[in-house]
Amino acid sequence: MPKTQSKWNETDIPDQVGRTAVVTGANSGIGLAAADALARAGAHVVLAVRDERRGEAAAATMRDARGSVEVRRLDLADLASVRQFAAGWQGDLDLLINNAGVMNVPEASTKDGFELQFGTNHLGHFALTNLLLPHVTDRVVTVSSGAHRFPAGMHIHFDNLNLAGEYAPMVAYGQSKLANLLFTLELQRRLTEAGSRVRALAAHPGWAATNLQSHDASVVRRMAMRAGNRFLAQDDKAGARPTLYAAIQDLPGASYVGPDGLGEMRGAPTLVGRSRAASDPRSARRLWTASEELTGVVFPHLAERAGTTG
Ligand SMILES: NC(=O)c1ccc[n+]([C@@H]2O[C@H](COP(=O)([O-])OP(=O)(O)OC[C@H]3O[C@@H](n4cnc5c(N)ncnc54)[C@H](OP(=O)(O)O)[C@@H]3O)[C@@H](O)[C@H]2O)c1
Repeated sequence: MPKTQSKWNETDIPDQVGRTAVVTGANSGIGLAAADALARAGAHVVLAVRDERRGEAAAATMRDARGSVEVRRLDLADLASVRQFAAGWQGDLDLLINNAGVMNVPEASTKDGFELQFGTNHLGHFALTNLLLPHVTDRVVTVSSGAHRFPAGMHIHFDNLNLAGEYAPMVAYGQSKLANLLFTLELQRRLTEAGSRVRALAAHPGWAATNLQSHDASVVRRMAMRAGNRFLAQDDKAGARPTLYAAIQDLPGASYVGPDGLGEMRGAPTLVGRSRAASDPRSARRLWTASEELTGVVFPHLAERAGTTG
């Protein structure tokens, strides 16, 4: 009997031999688990990490994989590093997984002066994707979060994207994760308009026990999340399944994948809904324009490449 969608797991990943994937933040958590699953399925996987030592340690755990693993430095909180990473890319890239992220951290800035969560989670990936897009042949998967809905009424603070003078860690995280979904929406619209076959999709892991929760600005939240990680969360391998499902399954562009359990906290990957704010094409375009202005990176000209139709 064929497996139902809800039972999908990494053993269902078809042979990836001959395919290349970049996974950002692949030295830890769900990025590591996703990279591991792709490498074991035969892909050449590039671990795009800010600390090469941690990247090499992660790569060492995949030594027995069928595919090959390579470590390259990428600091998403530094646009010069993003440009350097993309400039070094040669050849086709089947799959770009925008996974790296920071959550609820104390107020801080990226090298370019952007609020750290918005700058790392959204702007760094925005620049990376657009710079690599001429090489991408299959799809871009961006990892968002159920936190794109929180706090209630979450929206993009277009008049103050850096939340200067009104910084709150959870608002900054929610805004960055909402930005991940709006980015996916507008990227897919632009790809379709350009006649490209490349797809943009998003995923979220539910609640997975990883290092993410250990940098929280609030001691109380940190303690609560440590307990949650122990008793409620799923493991990083299960948390990586929505990302892998979005990366592998034949889904429409702009799809959003998450766990199928109660509150989308855990479970097997399935298509999930998103907030009204995350579905607004006008906000998506406005965020795109603002992101182009802030990063100096624009949507590339995709004509005459293998992945385009017509
Ligand atoms: N875990 C959850 O319950 C959960 C829920 C919803 C969404 N998510 C999302 O899942 C994604 C992965 O998180 P995770 O849970 O696997 O957490 P994690 O274990 O902390 O992994 C995050 C990864 O991002 C990397 N990273 C952070 N800042 C970076 C930068 N400036 N440049 C490059 N890499 C950077 C980290 O590198 P270092 O190791 O060097 O710090 C690490 O490899 C994030 O986008 C997060 O928002 C997670």
